[in-house]
Amino acid sequence: MCGIIGHVGTTCSTPILLDGLRRLEYRGYDSAGIVVISESGAPLLRRCEGKLRGLENSLFENPMTGTIGIGHTRWATHGKPTERNAHPHRGENGRVYVVHNGIVENFAELRERLLAEGCQLTSDTDTELIAHLIEKRLDDGVKLAEAVRQVCRVIRGSFGIAVLSATHPDRLIVARLRSPLVVGLGENENFVASDVPALLPYTRRVIYLQDEQLAVVTRTAVAIQTFDGKAVAPEVSEIKWDRHAAEKEGFRHYMLKEIYEQPRVLRELLAIHTDRGERLPRLDMVGESVDGLAHCNRILAFGCGTAWHSCLMARTFIEELARIPTEVDYASELRGRRPFAGPGVLGLAISQSGETADTLAAAMIMRKQGSRLLGICNVEGSSLVREADSVVHTHSGPEIGVASTKAFTGQLMVSFLLAVELGLRRGVLDKDRAASLVRACERLPEQIENLLLDSEKIQQIAWELHQKTDWLYLGRRWLYPIALEGALKLKEISYAHAEGYPAGEMKHGPIALLEPGLPVVALVGTGPSADKMRANIQEAKARDALIIGLSSEPHLLDGLAHHVLELPASRVETEPILHAVALQLLAYYVADARGCDVDQPRNLAKSVTVE
Ligand code: F6R
Repeated sequence: MCGIIGHVGTTCSTPILLDGLRRLEYRGYDSAGIVVISESGAPLLRRCEGKLRGLENSLFENPMTGTIGIGHTRWATHGKPTERNAHPHRGENGRVYVVHNGIVENFAELRERLLAEGCQLTSDTDTELIAHLIEKRLDDGVKLAEAVRQVCRVIRGSFGIAVLSATHPDRLIVARLRSPLVVGLGENENFVASDVPALLPYTRRVIYLQDEQLAVVTRTAVAIQTFDGKAVAPEVSEIKWDRHAAEKEGFRHYMLKEIYEQPRVLRELLAIHTDRGERLPRLDMVGESVDGLAHCNRILAFGCGTAWHSCLMARTFIEELARIPTEVDYASELRGRRPFAGPGVLGLAISQSGETADTLAAAMIMRKQGSRLLGICNVEGSSLVREADSVVHTHSGPEIGVASTKAFTGQLMVSFLLAVELGLRRGVLDKDRAASLVRACERLPEQIENLLLDSEKIQQIAWELHQKTDWLYLGRRWLYPIALEGALKLKEISYAHAEGYPAGEMKHGPIALLEPGLPVVALVGTGPSADKMRANIQEAKARDALIIGLSSEPHLLDGLAHHVLELPASRVETEPILHAVALQLLAYYVADARGCDVDQPRNLAKSVTVE
């Protein structure tokens, strides 16, 4: 939700800010803007409605230069996505400029107060208020960092902010409360950003700002203090991601590139989280050990969107392979109720970004009630990683496409290995069964490669059906969460209406939706539920629905499906990952054929850091 970038150095900041915004555009793309301080000391502001390209074109035609600046790409919360609401926002006298990610909850109260004091507001945003509040303190003779610190104590909600002032043209001030901010350390230059991918071309040395911390960043130094004014020694971390990891590398879209990265990601995950000699899972878990977790009585898994589908899959894996009762909830619902948590209940939070506001809030509730918290997360140094008692990283690399793909299959692989390891520790699985499950995982990367090589059929189906506006996705047992995920992928990037259902539920209502020609994507697994699935397909076919069947045993779909996608043969426990990849491709090609902006679907943002 909104990308923030800042630079202070000796070279021109403008291209660095634009490049950073390009790399952060997945966080929001309603409008964009930058401000730099020119050589003469004047702030130069440029903001444009719409995607970053508008700002790039404007700066190409009318360049602005300066060696310090901040920039922003917006996902609108307060106020429409227009130029007047685009960031950076300025105080009344143009002495302070602010970019902000998050939401000011006491917006109405602060706005009223500022208006009563005679303040002229020029936008509908909460961010503008921050700029005015800081500027008022500067007018009272307070120094910039102190003014920002004081204002951080006045605003409620969540924020990552970067502040620039012509009165202190050598420094950026950044502060965070429940919204990510990272400082990048360069040679004779420093950077700030809301996310690591923006920094990859410039540095691997970063400082993750913690909640209620503020940093003064100059070209040669970074000084950190808490909102209480106590100095904090900066902790420098080294980013392991490759500098090209956040680039398209010849693919038309990030999403397609990320789909194709899955074999590599899964191979790497297996190398990290299994013992290659014994062929047994050995999760590289930060914090508490798997042994410690194996004694819990119950697991409560939560997340949002695709990560929630991972939770459903984790429940199947854990209940089946480790026999631990597992409940799943949407993080946004869990945070609103009083869950039965406590010392015997393990909270399992799954999140790609580790910054999703609802997931973090649910995690806090679980911990407050005495549960331990295990995070499965992709982004190192993220809020979830810091909040959790133990963490397993999904090591999927930066995921830039807004629709999650490789992070999802990474989450599935990790929760599968977790379930097998828990099963071993609890004596539910013996070593032979565990090793055979790990071997099935080891076959997945090659199976996915074969699936990707054979994707022409998926493209053909997508092309033939891309004008369909309603779709149903059906699955049972191991494939039910994948049906939900397939439908989510399609709707979010192609804007076609798609619903996922457990196939057995069809007769209880959704079957009324069936019309001649309505595409029904049926996931047929290899387990005992295959016959039941075939019966459900029959029912849909009898009502003239158009059946797209996915199975590793195509003969199961003989005479049933109009289109058959044959998947590589796998075990019932591991085939969900293959079905997931096939449905990612189907969604991608349908969306592409419909001419949609696959990487930046409308109204969405990659990381939902507001409630
Ligand atoms: C869908 C998608 C979203 C995210 C959700 C949670 O493709 O990406 O549904 O899964 O917003 O995000 P994280 O995993 O970052 O908590």
